[in-house]
Amino acid sequence: MAGTMGSSNSGHKTKGNATAVIGMQWGDEGKGKLVDLLSAEHDVVVRYNGGANAGHSVVIAGQRYALHLIPAGILSKGTLAVIGNGVVLDPDTLLKELDTLQSRGVDTSNLVISANAHVVMPYHKDEDAAREDTLKGGAGESPLTEIGTTRRGIGPAYADKVQRAAAVRARDLLRPELLRARIAQACRFKAPILGKQPDVEAMVATATQWGQRLAPMIRETTYLVHDQLRAGKRVMFEGANGTLLDVDHGTFPYVTGSNTGTAGIATGAGVPPTILTSAIGVMKAYSSRVGSGPMPTELSGDTAHRIRERGREYGTTTGRPRRVGWLDVVALRYAAMLNGITSLSVMLLDVLAGFDTIKVCTAYQLADGSTTDRFVADGPELAGAKPVYTDLPGFMDEIGAARSLAALPKPARAYLDFIQEKVGVSIGFVSIGPDREQTIIVGA
Ligand code: IMP
Repeated sequence: MAGTMGSSNSGHKTKGNATAVIGMQWGDEGKGKLVDLLSAEHDVVVRYNGGANAGHSVVIAGQRYALHLIPAGILSKGTLAVIGNGVVLDPDTLLKELDTLQSRGVDTSNLVISANAHVVMPYHKDEDAAREDTLKGGAGESPLTEIGTTRRGIGPAYADKVQRAAAVRARDLLRPELLRARIAQACRFKAPILGKQPDVEAMVATATQWGQRLAPMIRETTYLVHDQLRAGKRVMFEGANGTLLDVDHGTFPYVTGSNTGTAGIATGAGVPPTILTSAIGVMKAYSSRVGSGPMPTELSGDTAHRIRERGREYGTTTGRPRRVGWLDVVALRYAAMLNGITSLSVMLLDVLAGFDTIKVCTAYQLADGSTTDRFVADGPELAGAKPVYTDLPGFMDEIGAARSLAALPKPARAYLDFIQEKVGVSIGFVSIGPDREQTIIVGA
């Protein structure tokens, strides 16, 4: 099996003009690096879900950029960067990010924000924190624990979008009367939840300032994206968070507030589901998770420590140490199926150097003793699932300098072959270090 990928794989290149880049695990798969890599062959990069909970880190020429809201495509010169209607926009974070990028010489004039994107207000963050604090440690006999959110107000902002009554959209930042009315109304609703009356005037003043700075960027984006597609421009949809954190298809309730996969692109950017010409699934060579909720292959002790340190597994957004575990191909097969993944991008393979044996979860043993190779999309039920492992030989040598599959140790190639066989999708990219150059483009 080893070495078969290089010769026959043809699924790695982005086909047509609409590419999705999707996280296949619990976020932090390394999407930022891939988006940056592919930006050169795209004219437009669109964020369609999530908010400042996401953390995309990109290393260019040894310089690390951490982006939360601005599409990572902004780092590529001339790329139009779109924050779509499905994103919940935190203007505070956005403005800080813009300032940082500008001070480092990045051209941000190509950033456009959907007028219909919902705004994360300060009370959303307070509400997020209040709900998490209430759940912390479980209450008495209650089986519920906190979700372990990023406390960036994501859930409450999406909840208010669906509630409608007092939600604030980006366009409202430019409509003073409506803005004041919406904020005043929202504060009335929030007071009992927060146990205090938020300061309406202070918030209106802040939101008005946001509007003044963001005004040149706020515009209609649905037609904009369609116009670009019609003009034959190449558009990339940059997923945030990961498939297993999807509010409908993930490990509920330990999920985020949006549809993180390809399904979210239609609603979050205003394009039909049939638009995609390729969907690249980004996965780590192992598993990681931040916050609460089950991860069947979770490791502890020395093995976990080694993976965490080598993989720099600390949150880009919160700095929290990430939980780490062996690869779970049950989850990956599910993610490939849900998203219609056409090509895999395996990230952080270098982190696994130095293990005698690498374990891969290929099935779950459920609480009733039965075995399944299907993912269990429910937090409490998945918590009772035990991994069934296949052991593969590890590789000892560092691989960061490899520039082709042939230069990888045989067991590393066998590991990649095993992944593509079990997931059922061919591998297009293998990342063996943080730099742009440390990427093997399969078949290139
Ligand atoms: P929220 O999105 O802040 O509400 O957090 C919900 C869950 O999703 C928590 O477990 C977070 O740690 C997790 N989460 C949200 N965004 C990301 C991400 O970009 N990477 C990893 N985990 C995330």
